[in-house]
Amino acid sequence: MNIQEIADQLAHSGYIVLESPLEDTLLNQLLARCKDDGCSRFQAAHIGRGADKKQIASIRGDVISWLTDTHSTDAAYLALMEKLRLGLNEKLFLGLFDYECHYAIYRKGTGYAKHSDVLSGKKNRVLSSVLYLNEDWQTDDGGELILYDLAGAALKTVSPKFGTMAIFLSESFPHEVLISQRIRRSIAGWFRVSGN
Ligand code: OGA
Ligand code: MN
Repeated sequence: MNIQEIADQLAHSGYIVLESPLEDTLLNQLLARCKDDGCSRFQAAHIGRGADKKQIASIRGDVISWLTDTHSTDAAYLALMEKLRLGLNEKLFLGLFDYECHYAIYRKGTGYAKHSDVLSGKKNRVLSSVLYLNEDWQTDDGGELILYDLAGAALKTVSPKFGTMAIFLSESFPHEVLISQRIRRSIAGWFRVSGN
């Protein structure tokens, strides 16, 4: 992962799409972890928080499982993102405090309607990241991530191909996941500042 390149792009345009920042060995281990083995490790994702917390499959169709330091594969990815966190703090003075991420599986026929990653009343998500784990993804499979600017113009379309990673400023880019024609796997994560 070239941290200088990521920092430069983030400073310049607020987002970056990297085609293959990780090694295949780790990607394959992450893919193995992003499979629901029937042990209920994956749970339906929710929207909002507190009293507003809802689970509406028509808005958001993924099931998720948070990465933890106790599993070696998760720990390897968290360590990489920790390096990125420290590097970005050094270069961009973002004051990023921590990073949290979850595996996500979208069933065929689901997506995630346009939204912002900054939860209402909660401003601590600063930088969003998504790593895609889909081998042989075809254009017809859909499931693209679309980044918008704050005026609503579509800026960037990202195909969820194996190893591709998107990083963007959480507050500046509303985004959506188009309906996927195939099961779609990813790791979505957030660098946060401390506070409310
Ligand atoms: C999210 C999200 C994008 C993607 O989980 O908040 O926007 O491409 N994911 O999976
Ligand atoms: Mn999002």
